[in-house]
Amino acid sequence: MVQLLGVVASAPAKIILFGEHFVVYVEPAIVMAIDKRAYASADIREDKLIYVKSVDLGMSGFFEGEDFHEECGGQAARRTLEPLKIAIQKILERTKTNAGISVKVRSTIPVAAGLGSSAAVAASVATAVGRLLDLELSKEEIFRISYEAERFVHGTPSGVDPTVSTYGGVLLYHKNKGFSQIEVKGEIPLVIGDTGVKRSTGDLVATVHKISKKHPSIIKPLLKIGGKITLSAVKALETGDLHELGELMNINHGLLCAVGVSDVSLERLVHAAREAGALGAKLTGAGGGGCIIALVEPNKCGQVVDAIERVGGKAFDVKLTNQGARIEN
Ligand code: MEV
Repeated sequence: MVQLLGVVASAPAKIILFGEHFVVYVEPAIVMAIDKRAYASADIREDKLIYVKSVDLGMSGFFEGEDFHEECGGQAARRTLEPLKIAIQKILERTKTNAGISVKVRSTIPVAAGLGSSAAVAASVATAVGRLLDLELSKEEIFRISYEAERFVHGTPSGVDPTVSTYGGVLLYHKNKGFSQIEVKGEIPLVIGDTGVKRSTGDLVATVHKISKKHPSIIKPLLKIGGKITLSAVKALETGDLHELGELMNINHGLLCAVGVSDVSLERLVHAAREAGALGAKLTGAGGGGCIIALVEPNKCGQVVDAIERVGGKAFDVKLTNQGARIEN
């Protein structure tokens, strides 16, 4: 594993328990920070360049004003690294300096899988660079900077991903009203199943936009029902009612299928998990591939993991973390 030097910060990945996509249409969503993190290290450079490297993606390069000089990773490098340059530039604007900055990123979060990798990376970079430049950035500021980076990645984000990566915990999130922490009773035993199919959040947000424009009188009420499911789920989380939660997850998944964001790879995993005894299973994040989450009774965790792997997914259990973006050293 590559060691990160300089100021090191980290931020967590997330899973959306309820309300992905509907949250873009101002319905509430429930999101949970999980125990997989992105790490960023930041250093001052002698020159005035911004250097960004993603160790895991094998991409790196220098930004000099609007120009990009690729070091590694080919054509895709600029698009992948630019959001991080945006976050760094926002901080440089705040300090009114034109220091050169080097940032290296290392992450245990699967990329383009619905687990909020891009937001976690942006929040860790903002936190590290802020500290490097002696700025006492508030959580709100870290969120704002990560949100700007996220906007570059997929045009019209609801803000749910950068919020949870910044603050951690289990949040009831509303695009216009902000968020509140949910007091969860007991554990939420969850297994993630990764289809391994990579997808673009922006494209899937556009899919939902298209169908809601084509059939507004059908899709609008459906989005509202999504919001009602989320609010019922808050009660189930507060009372620790896992059976109710599982049922609500299954209904939520049905709605996500209806708006066109499930696919055969996700359905295979969702049904394998349910047949192996999961209390509920649904896609999480943007869909179209990426990951599912399955709610399991703790003694059935192993059999659900095995069932997902038998149908070709990669499965692992995850835990809640209350630790949002933080300095590591
Ligand atoms: C992506 O993690 C969640 C979506 O609802 C998009 C967003 O909220 O920005 C699909």
